[in-house]
Amino acid sequence: MDKLVIEGGHRLRGSLPISGSKNTALALMAAALLPDGPSTFTNIPDLKDIDTFSKVIRVTGAGVDFDAAGHTLRIDPTPLAHPEAPYELVKRMRASFYMLGALLGRCGRARVSLPGGCAWGPRPVDLHLEGMKALGAEVELDKGYVVARARGGRLEGGTFRLEPSSVGATVNLVLAAATARGHSRIENAAIEPDVVVFCEALHAMGARIEGIGTRTLEIEGVTTLRPVTFANCADRIELGTFMIAALLAGTPGDTITLEQAGAGHLGQAFLDAFRATGAELHAETDRVHVTVPDEVRAVSIETDVYPGFPTDLQAQWTVLMTQAKGNAKIVDRIYLDRFKHVPELRRMGANAIVVGNEVVVEGTSRLQGTTVMSTDLRGSVSLVLAGLVAEGETHVLRVYHLDRGYEKLEEKLSRAGIVIRRTTYDEFADPLLEHPHEA
Ligand code: EPZ
Repeated sequence: MDKLVIEGGHRLRGSLPISGSKNTALALMAAALLPDGPSTFTNIPDLKDIDTFSKVIRVTGAGVDFDAAGHTLRIDPTPLAHPEAPYELVKRMRASFYMLGALLGRCGRARVSLPGGCAWGPRPVDLHLEGMKALGAEVELDKGYVVARARGGRLEGGTFRLEPSSVGATVNLVLAAATARGHSRIENAAIEPDVVVFCEALHAMGARIEGIGTRTLEIEGVTTLRPVTFANCADRIELGTFMIAALLAGTPGDTITLEQAGAGHLGQAFLDAFRATGAELHAETDRVHVTVPDEVRAVSIETDVYPGFPTDLQAQWTVLMTQAKGNAKIVDRIYLDRFKHVPELRRMGANAIVVGNEVVVEGTSRLQGTTVMSTDLRGSVSLVLAGLVAEGETHVLRVYHLDRGYEKLEEKLSRAGIVIRRTTYDEFADPLLEHPHEA
């Protein structure tokens, strides 16, 4: 199994490239199943989640070709004949559940495994299922699978209000509504950039969607959609992660540049909190310059749906606050227990205490490098961030979590001055047996 070893104390400098958005790419891949021919997407990141979803799509018979070096993905739905998504693959990546909307939209039927939970919670799909019923689907649960069928072979369309607003449910319902017989309205729809860009791609395919970027989507179903060549947007969460890395490991007064991404997708709450630390931020169309302040001030945040502070940057912000001047309170209003990284940070010496869906962090705590365990994608990258500033070496285990959402992380950080390497280890080695005197 792979781990990352980071030698703390080296300064981040120069520039880092931002890859294409993972979460947008997954929605675009599902949309590619709707048209009557092959679509091509550019700026698709070379990630484990993209590979997993490619496998899910191939199970249906559709063709998927990924030029990883060129970040170009081609999906041909023409041979699709098997509207199923198996548990063995869906359990690895929750967004596979988008197959429900895509297959219902294309074939009028679907058999899709229910996604499991994840490291930090149950991750329900009740909104997805109730929404599909509102669009005219008959939905049953059979041995852990959702078996759905459009009465008369094609969904009617309908109105559904999302409570709470859900990124995944919005994507799934738009996939199903785009080719329904009639009109659909989705209320309290998610407006995360991932959803907006996905809707823009469907619009380019000929879908009739009004209100893109607002919380009310009005969709007139169409019978056919045309294939497209479409550019994916940059990954706002990778961008935010590296902006935080700059404040953690950059040299005061230095400017670090994040390439191939603008700041517009980060949302106002993150930009405001970032500037409140004392950091200077200068954003151009496709690059962001961060000037590192002499001292990072503690800034308390609460996560929320877009344009609120992204929950996917909560763990990274927590690490930043261990080094900030003062104490900070971090509240996650999206996921009530997304704090599995905190016990690992405490083992490194962080003064952080979780109370319910809040973590209180005491600033300027000295971190010590040690061996720590990744539990989920954003938690694992937060441990790497902690390793940047910890004394000595930090060994981050189970980086398969991290490989789901960060492309060539060690390469990007190494090029920007960090001493980090990937190596393998035996997850089940028992030091007590092998080196009794060293244990
Ligand atoms: C998407 O997950 C992202 N994943 C997540 O990013 C992100 O954390 C999340 O949105 C919130 O921004 C992808 O885009 C692939 P939700 P999703 O449905 O769609 C509740 C990462 O690190 N809910 O918006 O699953 C749910 O419990 C990943 O890249 C229901 O109650 O999130 C949560 O509290 C992790 N019933 C809230 O909505 C439902 O049927 C938001 O979840 C669906 C959701």
